[in-house]
Amino acid sequence: MAEITRVAVVGAGTMGSQIGLQTAYAGRHRVTLVDSSPAQLERAAGQRDHLVRRAVERGRLTEERASDALGRIEATTDLPAAVTAADLVIEAVFEDLDAKRQVWSQLGTHARPDALLASNSSTIAISRLVDGVPGPDRCCNMHFFHPVTVMQLCEVVRGPRTSDETVRAAMDFVRSIDRVPVLVNREVHGFIVNRILFAAAEEAFHLLEGGYATVEDIDTAVKKGLNWPMGPFELLDFSGLDVFSGALEDRRRLEGGRGAPAALKERVDRGELGRKTGRGFYDYPSG
Ligand SMILES: NC(=O)c1ccc[n+]([C@@H]2O[C@H](COP(=O)([O-])OP(=O)(O)OC[C@H]3O[C@@H](n4cnc5c(N)ncnc54)[C@H](O)[C@@H]3O)[C@@H](O)[C@H]2O)c1
Repeated sequence: MAEITRVAVVGAGTMGSQIGLQTAYAGRHRVTLVDSSPAQLERAAGQRDHLVRRAVERGRLTEERASDALGRIEATTDLPAAVTAADLVIEAVFEDLDAKRQVWSQLGTHARPDALLASNSSTIAISRLVDGVPGPDRCCNMHFFHPVTVMQLCEVVRGPRTSDETVRAAMDFVRSIDRVPVLVNREVHGFIVNRILFAAAEEAFHLLEGGYATVEDIDTAVKKGLNWPMGPFELLDFSGLDVFSGALEDRRRLEGGRGAPAALKERVDRGELGRKTGRGFYDYPSG
């Protein structure tokens, strides 16, 4: 497996752009952000400049390291060229199986045989993406958390065909960019963190729908009683209600269970998706 010096991140949205920035901050790798949308690449550049400037203003980054990090990142819409040059490719496109499969088929065609290939999917295990990709042993999930420059965790998930060498290289890479890896040794829907979140959210909905307590009191109880920084409903608003509802439906298809609760579905149907739309379980008048 190649030593990792060049990283291509495919999908420069919320996650991909920050995975790229965190990688560049570590000062060891060159990063190419790939997106099919030139407008998204421009947006990502604007957000990156803003984050880096803020980190300098707050004294978390020197001017020198900031300009080094920004100089390590390039952006392109040319997926084949970026992937061919990469030692590690991290796929971070929409959470949609067909969209991801299309991208993985391109990775199979263009990535070098010694490159490590990873998906940042929150719920789609690598075994659902690698059919037809040469060398499935070098493929795994690398699940970072939002916002990547703040949240330290990355779940590395071993698929049924992932090699030990791939697991080791993935864990080492995560450490090399100052994040903390944990290994999920067998594929399971939701990996570790989301399974625990699903369980907590399920109880929160049970309490809400049974009329036992309000959204506000459930969140307050969890924050003050369990010391979580956010209550379950605040966290759902932060992550996006559509994302969470889709993950629960996906889990129902794979494992059974109840799927998205009515109190969640009805908000998604009304387009109330949380912070990003200004309304979810709470209102966010300033967006
Ligand atoms: N948002 C989160 O909180 C979060 C947290 C952890 C993991 N994830 C996972 O990360 C992945 C990306 O999520 P996101 O929130 O960043 O999505 P996003 O919608 O913000 O970004 C996806 C990007 O992929 C690009 N894209 C789509 N198809 C493409 C293609 N064929 N080639 C190149 N670019 C393409 C889009 O233009 C878009 O910019 C998903 O799998 C999601 O499950 C998201």
